[in-house]
This record gives sequence, structure tokens and C-alpha cells, in this order.
Amino acid sequence: MPTGGFVFPEGFLIGASTSAHQIEGNNVNSDWWAFEHRPGSPVREPSGDAVDGYHRWRQDLDLLRDLGFTAYRFSVEWARIEPQPGHVSRAALEHYRRVIEGARERGIEPVVTLHHFTSPRWFTGFGGWAAPQATERFAAYAAAVAPILDGAVRYAATVNEPNMVALMHTLIRKGGADTDFARLEPDDDLSAGLIGAHHAAREVLRAACPDLRVGWTVANQVYQPEPGAEDACRAHAWPREDRFLEAARGDDWIGVQSYTRTRVAADGPLPVPEEADKTLTGWEYYPAALGQAVRHTAGVVGPDVPILVTENGIATDDDDRRIAYTGAALAGLADAMREGADVRAYLHWSALDNYEWGSYRPTFGLVAVDRTTFARTPKPSARWLGAIARDRRLPAGPGGEE
Ligand code: BGC
Repeated sequence: MPTGGFVFPEGFLIGASTSAHQIEGNNVNSDWWAFEHRPGSPVREPSGDAVDGYHRWRQDLDLLRDLGFTAYRFSVEWARIEPQPGHVSRAALEHYRRVIEGARERGIEPVVTLHHFTSPRWFTGFGGWAAPQATERFAAYAAAVAPILDGAVRYAATVNEPNMVALMHTLIRKGGADTDFARLEPDDDLSAGLIGAHHAAREVLRAACPDLRVGWTVANQVYQPEPGAEDACRAHAWPREDRFLEAARGDDWIGVQSYTRTRVAADGPLPVPEEADKTLTGWEYYPAALGQAVRHTAGVVGPDVPILVTENGIATDDDDRRIAYTGAALAGLADAMREGADVRAYLHWSALDNYEWGSYRPTFGLVAVDRTTFARTPKPSARWLGAIARDRRLPAGPGGEE
């Protein structure tokens, strides 16, 4: 490779992502909080104060700006904005309006997700995504959020990882514990409900906010067939991933979220081999996943839907390994872009060490957080990625391109 590395196009955004439940703390009106605290809950560790992001957002935005980042993805919390059906909290909306304005004032592009895994208790109580009212309720929520997005936000996502939401709710229906998650197929009514709600909310947002581009963000598993298992792999991937990508064909953008790969044999997905290099979540260390996820997504949604990488990262205690993983992932992204993929942003997961859905142990953050004082300490990876954001240039060599 020639030296000099890869220069991301002008306007390309580089930043980091979070979600409300994982950073804000005390999201008491959400179905996840109820799930964490119900008797016999399978959740090992409840979210509690999380990292007090609800109160410390100014400090977090200052940090991201000082590090050099040009974008920040976060979610607004439905359970705070609409604590009872039809009752919209103006105070909660104003809070998020301040966060959006705060990002803009610091030169940071806000990328806003409306739903990141958590719903108000009442929504889940009447049947969640499969209920007949789901589409209408979610569209009404989108209409309530629209005024704080209009003129201030360019990219909004309706639902984060609808494919994972469908799987998680299928798992809950089946009673959890004994179910083999890797082979679980999402129930059709849940997937269809999510797709219908996405399309309805997209139209509401487009009508209310002329400059807003609306999409959703899909978990990409990078399904890889074993020799001879191509058909089985395609059949496995459709209900778990491609169905949700196909539903994005009329969207304004699509979010790619990629961490690792899944190998699929004729009789189903293979477990990660014992000897494989793994991360703190037990996933295979496989940074090449990102470039492959981008190529696959572009192939399904077609050339007219631009891509934002809305999540990519690694759970590790070893920050050098985070830099190595991210450098290799970005090199794969650069290759996909050289081949023509229309990618507009790279948002690392995660800005902060945060609540990883049942435990604080898997640390994905560029910034460490002391769980007692909530003090934030940027890791070397934060400065490394911030420099890339500032220069829009991925250097050649270690931690960059091969
Ligand atoms: C989710 C995040 C999560 C991350 C790492 C994605 O599935 O959107 O909420 O923390 O992956 O597991």
C-alpha cells in the first residue's frame, strides 16, 4: 500500500454513539427497568444510575468536541417523553431539545434515535410491537418528537436494531432461559409490526420535518456460509437481517451496526470455536466484519440509500486492542468506500463505558466512567479516533491501514 492512508470525503462524520437507557440512569418508566426489577428477573445487574448521562450531557458533549469528534448519536427516551399514552412531557422534550442544540453549538452533528430497545411500560403492557395499535402509537410518538428535530437534526433513526428487538421479544414470549438464541427465528407478527411502525413514523417525520433524513439501524451479523451452505445461509439471514434491510429500500439512509461475524452451516449457525480470539462479550474478534457488513447492506438496499455506520466497536479491557480493532475495521470500511459504497459517517460504539443490557462488565467505551463519582476519563483510543475525526484521514500503518 502507498503511504498516506485513506482520506474520508469532505463532510464525512466521525463520532460516537450511546443510547438513553444505557447512559441516562433511572429510566424507571421503561419496560427494561421493569424487566430488570421483576421477581426472578434473568438480568444479573440492574441499570440503576447508569452513568448519569441525563444530567452530565454538557460535560459529555464538551469532551466529544475537545477530542475532535464531529458527530454524536444518542437516543431520546419514549418512556420519558410519553409516560402515559397520549400524555407528552414538555419538560422531557425540552431536555432533549437542549441536548440537540448543545451538540450543534459545539459543532457536533446530532444523530437521533427514537427507539433504542426500551419502550414505555404501557406500550409493552398492551402487547408491544405485535399489538394492533403499535403502528399508530409509535407514529404518534414520532409526531410528538418532530418539533425538536425540525430544522436542527439532519439524521434520525426510528428504531435501533429492529431485528434484535424482534428476536428479544420472541425470546421473552418463549420464556427465555432454555431457548437457543442463535437458532431462534423472530415471530413474523413482531417483525411485521416493527416494519409497519417504521414506515408510518418515517412518513410522519418526513411530513413534519422537510430537511430531516429518516432511516433505521440494523444489526449486521455478517452471515458467512460454510462451503455448500449458501442456500441455508440465505434462508437463515432473511428473517433475522435481510427482511429489515429490504424494508429500508425507500428510506433516506440506512444504519450499519457491525461487531463480528456468524458462520452458518447447512443445519444452522455454528458456535464461536473454543480456540477463536474472543472479546469480553464472547464474540469472535473479527474487525473485517465492518467492510463486509457495509458491502452486504449496500447490495440489499441498493445504490440510492446512503449508509451511516451507526455502531462498531469492541468490548475489551485492553485499550490497545480497541485501537487495533477499530483501525482494522476502518481499513475495511475504506476498502468498501474505494469500491464505491456511499458511506457518510462512522459512529463508534460507544462514547462511554455504559450499561450493557444486564451488566456493566463488557466495556465498549472510548471514555471510562467511574461508577461511584461518574468521573469521565478519555482512553487513548478516544484521542486516537478523535485525531482521525479531526483530519478525516485514516493513517497508514499500525492502527490504520495495512
Ligand atoms: C446495541 C447496543 C449494544 C451494542 C453492544 C448493539 O446491539 O444497539 O445497545 O450495547 O450492540 O452489544
